[in-house]
Amino acid sequence: MAGGFVSQTPGVRNYNYKLTPKVFVTCFIGAFGGLIFGYDLGISGGVTSMEPFLEEFFPYVHKKMKNAHENEYCRFDSQLLTLFTSSLYVAALISSLFASTITRVFGRKWSMFLGGFTFFIGSAFNGFAQNIAMLLIGRILLGFGVGFANQSVPVYLSEMAPPNLRGAFNNGFQVAIIFGIVVATIINYFTAQMKGNIGWRISLGLACVPAVMIMIGALILPDTPNSLIERGYSEEAKKMLQSIRGTDEVDEEFQDLIDASEESKQVKHPWRNILLPRYRPQLIMTCFIPFFQQLTGINVITFYAPVLFQTLGFGSKASLLSAMVTGIIELLCTFVSVFTVDRFGRRVLFLQGGIQMLISQIAIGAMIGVKFGVAGTGNIGKGDANLIVALICIYVAGFAWSWGPLGWLVPSEISPLEIRSAAQAINVSVNMFFTFLVAQLFLTMLCHMKFGLFFFFAFFVVLMTIFIYLMLPETKNVPIEEMNRVWKAHWFWGRFIPDEAVNMGAAEMQQKSV
Ligand code: BGC
Repeated sequence: MAGGFVSQTPGVRNYNYKLTPKVFVTCFIGAFGGLIFGYDLGISGGVTSMEPFLEEFFPYVHKKMKNAHENEYCRFDSQLLTLFTSSLYVAALISSLFASTITRVFGRKWSMFLGGFTFFIGSAFNGFAQNIAMLLIGRILLGFGVGFANQSVPVYLSEMAPPNLRGAFNNGFQVAIIFGIVVATIINYFTAQMKGNIGWRISLGLACVPAVMIMIGALILPDTPNSLIERGYSEEAKKMLQSIRGTDEVDEEFQDLIDASEESKQVKHPWRNILLPRYRPQLIMTCFIPFFQQLTGINVITFYAPVLFQTLGFGSKASLLSAMVTGIIELLCTFVSVFTVDRFGRRVLFLQGGIQMLISQIAIGAMIGVKFGVAGTGNIGKGDANLIVALICIYVAGFAWSWGPLGWLVPSEISPLEIRSAAQAINVSVNMFFTFLVAQLFLTMLCHMKFGLFFFFAFFVVLMTIFIYLMLPETKNVPIEEMNRVWKAHWFWGRFIPDEAVNMGAAEMQQKSV
């Protein structure tokens, strides 16, 4: 395969590697893990705007929706309806906590397999649902699946990828998420036109397809060298490293992995350890990055775009079509990140994307405010409605090359092995918690905060952009096990990293700190 590379980052070690087909194929399959998450994100919004579905399970909301004279902002406000969407994320939150142990003890691939399996069972419950209980049990099972997959896939991709291309490979997860969303919106578009209950059943039931894809994918995937070493299979790990890096000269990288593993074995309590001062940057980042990612307000669009478009006066079909368009834009724009993240770095994308989202959110809020006012009555012309859709696309594009992929990439690449599973579990559970909150509260917030809701999210975009500017050092091209040097050089985080930590391992550090 293609010629060899040596990573060129000053101050950090350089490893040899070639881009092998094997690393591409395994990461491609690994990224399937994003499909189940994406399919679900995309399917719920459309299903909750389908009349037969509402009639069957939420007759009260259906009646309210039919009542055209009511306040537009409050058309869909129902806690039970939002519980349908959000229950999944509570389950994902809980499962990601114990998925971290499975990921560490049995390897990344078995976590993915389990994720696919529970998701599969959940899709059957939903597709055949006869009552709300079946619907909710299905959602919870799907949530368990998502928790397992989101815990293991980003770590899998970051560990498999050569350091210089880690950003691009890891972004495959986000590409798969958005692909799942787009496929779901296309399916919804067609099933919404079917008569009776068959449409929503197909939409929910087809979740079994990405589930089967991950299960099969997980069975054929090799485990990462890091995970093999962590579980005591050093010989296999070295062979794996040689085959994915396309060269026999992997001694330096292999030694770093062995050292990292030795150090991590001395650490008995990853959960307690992550609270030590020397891991403060990782702890803060793995809490704040997912929190901010959700406070961009992206899931207002992901879950409720069809509902939002109906609120804006679009017909049901036009709403689903517009949701499809925003999804396709998001997918295309995610590739901008894939191709630039390792060249321009994480910070540039975060900052540029933040500013773009901010401007478009303010414009959307202002336009809706002018058209519907505080009372939420009035009509919006075709031209204005199209302009709002265009602004939403600009906003989604900004998210697609910044907080979307980087919200998963950065937390998965900044933690040393001894705290990696715990850090990723925090990342997933914080993300799921705020996904749940936004999903649960959005329709009520829209009803009460009206167009001000867009300014509310814009405020957080300002905060997160300042946060990145001041607190996140650039991590592009830095091998994961060498990340301490980056923190040490940072104006703020440097004080938490003892000088020796840059060269010394966790075990020695821990002995020093007791
Ligand atoms: C986020 C999701 C979001 C999706 C698509 C992901 O990175 O975690 O909450 O729905 O991107 O926009």
